Amino acid sequence: MADVVLQVVDLDVFYGSSQILFGLSFEVHKGETLALLGRNGAGKSTTMKAIAGVIPSRKGQVRLHGQTILGEGAHRIARAGIGYVPEDRQIFPDLTVQDNLEIAIKRGPGGADDWPLERIYDMLPLLAPLKDRLGGQLSGGEQQMLTVGRALMGNPNVLLLDEPSEGLAPIMVQRIGDLIETLRALGKTIVLAEQNLQFCLGLADRAVVIDRGTDVFVGSIKELNADAEIKQRYLSV
Ligand SMILES: Nc1ncnc2c1ncn2[C@@H]1O[C@H](COP(=O)(O)OP(=O)(O)OP(=O)(O)O)[C@@H](O)[C@H]1O
Ligand SMILES: [Mg+2]
Repeated sequence: MADVVLQVVDLDVFYGSSQILFGLSFEVHKGETLALLGRNGAGKSTTMKAIAGVIPSRKGQVRLHGQTILGEGAHRIARAGIGYVPEDRQIFPDLTVQDNLEIAIKRGPGGADDWPLERIYDMLPLLAPLKDRLGGQLSGGEQQMLTVGRALMGNPNVLLLDEPSEGLAPIMVQRIGDLIETLRALGKTIVLAEQNLQFCLGLADRAVVIDRGTDVFVGSIKELNADAEIKQRYLSV
């Protein structure tokens, strides 16, 4: 049995009275990259927000290393080891790159401090020459790198990346892909929300497909890519 790091069990999430997630369940194994795929509006971001604790859920369980995190505040969930990179990036536009990173410093679970600033700049070489640049002056791709860097500063056990390639120029999409590959090679556990199966093919080990707030496929990314019917029904391919 693979070592399960994150478990989502039978999750229901509502926005007001409208239900968005319906009994969503999946597991993330240690050291894998799991692609969370689905069309526009399927519920990928909602899933990530619920895991990160930035929106409440009504039913179900989320466990990190067997410990319930659902219902804890976003701050405690981050401290417990969930690194969340939201789709709208949320950097501080009036702070420099360096300051954006520094205010994200926190010890990981168990006091781990694997990601000193120098290591972040090694990992994200694009940011190194931009240390003194204001966050708001960065390109979309540079902001995306900075957001990932900020999440890494928290020494997460699991990194949730919400459509990191969205809206970026092809060269930056490539760089984000390289970064995910590097993190995976380092043994990081990653959940990658994407509409784009193609982007996930070389990066992810397994995939969960969400449609209308329900998991409709769980399997290896290869199996998914070979399944023309599932792809046609649930993905924009
Ligand atoms: N704040 C909100 N209030 C009400 N409904 C919302 C809110 N945010 C999202 N929704 C609805 O929830 C559903 C799922 O949205 P979600 O953002 O999770 O989809 P997604 O899979 O991330 O899509 P995309 O690929 O476009 O990012 C959609 O129908 C969306 O309209
Ligand atoms: Mg989304």
